Amino acid sequence: MSENIVIAGPGGLGESYGSPFVFGYLRRFKVAVFSRSQKPELEKKGAAVKVVDYNDIPSLRAAIKSTQADTLLSFIVDLKNPDAMARSHRNLLEAAVLEGIKRFVPAEYANDVVRFPVPPSSEADKLHFREHAARVCRAHDVEYTLICNGIIMDFFLPRGKKKYIADLPPEFPNILPVYAEADAPRVMVLGGPEDRISMTLADDIAKGMVRLLLQPYGSWDEITYLSGDRMSWEEAAEILGRILDRKVETRYVSLDDLKQEVREAHGSYDLMRVECAELNEAFGNGSEVLPANTICFEGMETKRFEQVMREHYGKGND
Ligand SMILES: NC(=O)c1ccc[n+]([C@@H]2O[C@H](COP(=O)([O-])OP(=O)(O)OC[C@H]3O[C@@H](n4cnc5c(N)ncnc54)[C@H](OP(=O)(O)O)[C@@H]3O)[C@@H](O)[C@H]2O)c1
Repeated sequence: MSENIVIAGPGGLGESYGSPFVFGYLRRFKVAVFSRSQKPELEKKGAAVKVVDYNDIPSLRAAIKSTQADTLLSFIVDLKNPDAMARSHRNLLEAAVLEGIKRFVPAEYANDVVRFPVPPSSEADKLHFREHAARVCRAHDVEYTLICNGIIMDFFLPRGKKKYIADLPPEFPNILPVYAEADAPRVMVLGGPEDRISMTLADDIAKGMVRLLLQPYGSWDEITYLSGDRMSWEEAAEILGRILDRKVETRYVSLDDLKQEVREAHGSYDLMRVECAELNEAFGNGSEVLPANTICFEGMETKRFEQVMREHYGKGND
C-alpha cells in the first residue's frame, strides 16, 4: 500500500483529502501538498505544503525526495493556460520517476475515458498526457491508474454550500443540467433519455481514493471506475420535484442539437460558450454512463443523488 503521498495541485478536488470524513483514513498516510503558492488554510488542516516551481525539474526532484514520496496524485488543471499545464504535468512526472516514485494518479476524474477518450478542448492535453504517462509509467515500472468517476454531484449543490468546488460564474448555471436553485427549477434531459448517468460526490471520490491507496502494490488496473449513483435525467427531475415539492421543468435536448451547439460555439470563438457546449455534449453523449465499479470499491457506500439533494434542498434546509 501507499504510505507517503504527494498531492500536486490542491485546488478543488485535491483539497478533499482534508474532509473530516476521509481524514480518519488519511491519518494512515503521510501527505505533502505541492502548490505554486503558500496555502495557509491547508497548513492549518495539518498538511505539509511545499511551494514548488513546475518549470524546474531539479527543484521538483529535491521536493519529492524530501517527502520520500512513494505515490503522486496530480490534480493539476489549467484551463486558461493548457501549455503551462502540459509542461507542469510532464516535468512533475519526470521528476517523480527519477526519484523512484512507485505510484501515479494523473488528473482525470471524469467520465469513461476508454469509450470516450477525447476530452473537452480546454483540457485537450489530457489525451496526450494519458499516452505519455502510460508510456513513462510502464517503462519505469510505476503503477498508475486513471480514475473515471461520474459527473461531480457537488456542482448541483446550492451557491455558497459547495465544500470543494467553486460556484460557477452567474452566467454558467444556465448550462447546469440540474438547476434546483433557479426561479423555475429544471433538469435538462441531455441526449438519450434512457441513459443512466453516473453522478459522484467529491467526498466519495476521496473515499474511493483512500481505498485505492490501501491496495497492495501491483493490484491497480490502468483504469479505475467509481460511479457513485446512477440515474436517468428524467429520474433526476422526478426526484428533485419530490424533494422541492414543486414542478421541475424538464427540457429535452437531443444529441444532434448538443453537437450542433458545439459546432456553432466553435464558430463564435467564445471560449465560455465552447466550454459549456462541450460539457453538455459530454453529459449527453453516453460518456457519463460508466461500466461497473472497479472491484476494490465493492461494499463501499456512496451517496445517492436523492440523499444529497434532500440534505441541501429538502424541507428545513433553507
Ligand atoms: N467529472 C467532473 O464533473 C469534474 C468536475 C471538476 C473537475 N474534474 C476533474 O478533476 C481534476 C481536478 O480538477 P479541480 O477542479 O480540482 O481543479 P482546480 O480546482 O482548478 O485545481 C487545479 C490545481 O492545479 C494547479 N495548477 C493550475 N495551473 C497550474 C499550472 N500551470 N501548473 C501547475 N499547477 C497548476 C493549482 O494549484 P496551485 O495554484 O496550488 O499550484 C490548482 O489548485 C481535473 O482533472 C478535472 O478535469 C472533474
